[in-house]
Amino acid sequence: MIHHGQGLEDWPATIDTDSEPGGEDCKFLNVIDCIRDSITSVTSIGEEPDMSVFLLIEEIQCCMSIISSAERVYKKHGFLFLAQEGIHYLIDHILFQSFIWELLPEHKVKSTIADSRVLTTLLFAIRQTFYTEQRAVLHGQALYHEFEKKRSDPEHRLIRNVHRLEKGLSMKNRRPVFAEGYIEETVTDAIETHSTTENPNKQLWWALDVLDEYFETVEETEVIRKAAIRFNEFKSSIEYESGNRIPQLRKSLENDSVSYKEFRKLAEQRTSTRWFQQKPVPRELVDKAVETAVESPSACNRQPFEFRIYDDEDIIEEITKLPVGVSGYEDNIPCIAVIVGKQRAYFHNRDRHVIYIDASLAAMSFQFGLETLGLASCCINWPVIPQRERKMSKLLSLDDDEQVIMLMAIGYPDPEGMIPYSEKKNLDSVRSYNKV
Ligand SMILES: Cc1cc2nc3c(=O)[nH]c(=O)nc-3n(C[C@H](O)[C@H](O)[C@H](O)COP(=O)(O)O)c2cc1C
Repeated sequence: MIHHGQGLEDWPATIDTDSEPGGEDCKFLNVIDCIRDSITSVTSIGEEPDMSVFLLIEEIQCCMSIISSAERVYKKHGFLFLAQEGIHYLIDHILFQSFIWELLPEHKVKSTIADSRVLTTLLFAIRQTFYTEQRAVLHGQALYHEFEKKRSDPEHRLIRNVHRLEKGLSMKNRRPVFAEGYIEETVTDAIETHSTTENPNKQLWWALDVLDEYFETVEETEVIRKAAIRFNEFKSSIEYESGNRIPQLRKSLENDSVSYKEFRKLAEQRTSTRWFQQKPVPRELVDKAVETAVESPSACNRQPFEFRIYDDEDIIEEITKLPVGVSGYEDNIPCIAVIVGKQRAYFHNRDRHVIYIDASLAAMSFQFGLETLGLASCCINWPVIPQRERKMSKLLSLDDDEQVIMLMAIGYPDPEGMIPYSEKKNLDSVRSYNKV
């Protein structure tokens, strides 16, 4: 039996469901609707309606909507894709939702599968649950290696290596020789980056400062001596003035500029705000908030994300059609950020979650930054629904390794708009010490 209400929206998640049932290409459904309406009008004259007829009609309607979906998919993507998605749908929706979960307790089946590596792998492979992420991770690794080979975009490797150098330089028991394995590559990357970048950015100057300090500090070995000669020749051939972007003592930072009280106040003031004044959001304020966002920690300082800001009404309208959680206030958003993670910054599978962490840490600072500038915001969940991912990717021309992390509505808060209270958990339930 097919579950009602599980029609086209649930039909294989990877399939486009642009046209809804009842659309022009769905004549069957119109006929079925007519039959249903006729029965309703006949029975409304006085007779008790026969429910089994209605149930049968619902069943037929569901089947027809699936057939018509299948027809659309076949026309658009061909037979192989249809077969693959059909199997996926049969297993996911019919087998599991209509039979297995009806007969067996879901929690027991799931924990039994989870206890078996083979079954777990099989289940997610069949359901293609993590396909989008896996694809982005692989594309990211491919891009990383492609850039490395071409040496056309050494950005992430250079940042990572320079960070390793500065970390080495700031060690308490610093080794007299370190980084021999990657110093040559780092000098090459710095030179190449300088030659391919029209306006060298502050991260490149940071790289040069750190390299300079490194060669001043470490003991010379053959490898280091050669790299130092290349670096010094390069340095003297360009306009470079040290900016002292090198490890410094912690006490040199002001650490009493923001009091706990002030920060706590800011944290409490930041609440998810969904009602905004209908006036433009100044770009310079958004930029300032982004500048605070990039001060956030990120793995090896790679900042593998982009804050894509949209303040064009038409694009916002298109974007807000895609996430699930904006219904009811989508027409009210004057500015929206799509925070995009870039898998190309990492080359190990083990780092596949880092883009979510890095981007989310930055998102939090971004929200605080906005709040201090009189702007309010609300995170919007980006659900992993393949068809929506494809649409977003197309709409924003995302690269294959780019994944949407979340969206954020931004605007001047409407003082008359309501905000939920959203009470937080007790300290005891979110914090523990030395728990084993
Ligand atoms: C990752 C994430 C996804 C969220 N998704 C949505 C969403 O789709 N729609 C929405 O209205 N709010 C969304 N929110 C906002 C939360 O509902 C809100 O943060 C939560 O209720 C706590 O309220 P507060 O932010 O006011 O403290 C999201 C928040 C986060 C962190």
